[in-house]
Amino acid sequence: MSLLRMPTELLLQILGCLGSSFFCEDPRRLAVSRQWFLLARKVFLEDVRLSPKSLEQLLYNPSESRLAALKQNLRSIDLQLNGLENKKSKVSDWDRCLWLAPCAATLDQELNGLITILQDCKKLRALRLTASREFPATSLRIDRFIYLWSCRVLKLITLDNLTTLTLDTCGTMLPGIGPHHEGKHLCASISSLLTTLRHLRLRMRSICPVAFRLPKGDTPLPLMEVVVNISIYGDSPKDHPTLYSRKCGFNLRRRHPLKEMQDRAKLLVARMSLLRRVRILSGPAGHLKSWDALTGKRRTLADGAEWDDERMEETLEDNGDHSDDDSAVLGVPEQ
Ligand SMILES: *[C@@H]1O[C@H](CO)[C@@H](O)[C@H](O)[C@H]1NC(C)=O
Ligand SMILES: *[C@@H]1O[C@H](CO)[C@@H](O)[C@H](O)[C@H]1NC(C)=O
Repeated sequence: MSLLRMPTELLLQILGCLGSSFFCEDPRRLAVSRQWFLLARKVFLEDVRLSPKSLEQLLYNPSESRLAALKQNLRSIDLQLNGLENKKSKVSDWDRCLWLAPCAATLDQELNGLITILQDCKKLRALRLTASREFPATSLRIDRFIYLWSCRVLKLITLDNLTTLTLDTCGTMLPGIGPHHEGKHLCASISSLLTTLRHLRLRMRSICPVAFRLPKGDTPLPLMEVVVNISIYGDSPKDHPTLYSRKCGFNLRRRHPLKEMQDRAKLLVARMSLLRRVRILSGPAGHLKSWDALTGKRRTLADGAEWDDERMEETLEDNGDHSDDDSAVLGVPEQ
């Protein structure tokens, strides 16, 4: 039987196995025939990765049928921002400074437009937001700009019915964070998602134990996995390998959140019924340590380990959190 004569269900299963990335690699693969296209597009639009460029395309060249298909099929979105890189690419650092505010405002509007679309995506369950550094590694003069605001990120992460959330926003500060902005404190909003999320992964420039604040009562949480990376070494030559997240709010001594996060993580574990992993990653880049809230063990992570990586190297300690050992992970704080 020819592939195209197969029953729709079967063809859809085959296309599903190929996955969205198969069509991403080469969009011409969508256009085999009309019947194939309708099914392949469905698969293609289930898992979507957006760069700043494709975000612009989506917003400024909307095709009604494409938008409708997206709203109907989208299950997971992977938004990869790289600052204002594509908005003003061929200007000097100084000109960038002048252009920064309007460009950041444009990006903010675009994100708002995206959120409006995502609000209509009934099947959306997974969101990944990566906000990497604004400037390429060669640009030393200006190190890092603010191009995202916590209120916008907050609207993204509080989209209805999300069960998987990955936030990796080390390339920008997220102003609006702090004890005086409780309403916009991202960690507080993250903690309110603990009753609905299954997977939570965080890597942010500021983080605090508020993110693990437990909901009242003793109902078990649906959470299966929580991984926080407080090592935030980036791609700038200015970064010190031991750069780490600092506690939210204004603190002169730039307190290290590790010990308090560990204490809260243990309480979190007690409320999780389908526990798979609760980890906090720390330490200098290239020598990351993974602390496991379940066992209290700290182990060395294999090089380039992913969030859910099980490849560990040696075990460092047998038990306890060895908070007196924090000095080992304390390095040069963020400037
Ligand atoms: C979220 O889920 C509920 C219950 O399944 C559903 O009624 C609602 O429409 C969903 N919201 C969105 C935006 O998908
Ligand atoms: C954790 O952060 C370090 C940078 O300090 C990075 O090299 C590593 O890939 C990150 N791991 C995850 C899972 O985010």
